[in-house]
Formats: sequence, structure tokens, C-alpha cells
Amino acid sequence: MAIQRTFSIIKPDATKRNLTGQIAAKFEEAGLRIVASKRIQLTLAQAQAFYGVHAERPFFDELCEFMISEPIVVQVLEGEDAIAKNREVMGATNPADAAPGTIRKEFALSIGENSVHGSDAPETAAEEIAFFFSGLELVG
Ligand code: CMP
Repeated sequence: MAIQRTFSIIKPDATKRNLTGQIAAKFEEAGLRIVASKRIQLTLAQAQAFYGVHAERPFFDELCEFMISEPIVVQVLEGEDAIAKNREVMGATNPADAAPGTIRKEFALSIGENSVHGSDAPETAAEEIAFFFSGLELVG
């Protein structure tokens, strides 16, 4: 497997509890390099656009309100098989199902307030990186 880039969000429940550094350390320990990073606060329109694929889900409004409730940290992670590796280190969406040692097992509060987001495929990784970062911000 080649070197890949993936997109990550450290979500409001985690930034609020001052867990940014501990979560970033999990990525680095897994061999992922943080090649871009910024702390931002989303507008409602931005959150709705980013999660547009979930617009018909019953939890969509709750998800968008949560994502604008506090700042988030958006990052680009790079490494061997980065998309799968990031999903492994994040753990299952629902922390109740997440494996020991994963970010969601250690830090997530619920299926909604689950501390991190990570891209699920190369196409979504490219789209999500481009949503938040310009080429000038991606130095490698
Ligand atoms: P994420 O990986 O960011 O992608 C979509 C998000 O929707 C997911 O993580 C969860 O935070 C959220 N989500 C998924 N299922 C539910 C649910 N049943 N209730 C509330 N939020 C959910």
C-alpha cells in the first residue's frame, strides 16, 4: 500500500475537554504524520455542507448543532495506508463498540459526541481535504 493522505476532525467534545494533544499523539504513535492542522469554528452552513451526505438522517440537525458548538481542529494525516490506519486508531463510530486503546474507546462520550471524524475512502479524503485546506497549506 502506498503513502496516502486522509482528513481528520477533532470534534467539539474533545477540544472542549482539552484533548487535542492527546488525540494528536494517538495519530503520531500509529505512524501518521500531521502535515496540516488548524483550529477553526464552523458556521452552521459549513457544517451542513460538510455533512451533506447525512442530510436525510434523523440525527442530521443534532450533528450539525454539535459540530458548531465549540471549535474543532481539522487536520491532514499522511502515512502508509493512512485512511485505514486512521479508522483503526479512531475505533468504531459508537464508543460502546470501539476496541480498547482506540481514540473513541478512551475519549468519546457517545455515538454523536465521538471525538473524531476520519475519511472513509480515497475519494472522500480528497474531497474533505479540499473542503478545508488550500494547496498552499499542504506542504507535506
Ligand atoms: P462521523 O464519522 O463524523 O460521521 C457522521 C457522524 O454522525 C458520526 O461520526 C457521528 O458523530 C454521527 N452519528 C452517527 N450516528 C449517529 C446517531 N445515531 N446519533 C447521533 N449522531 C450520529
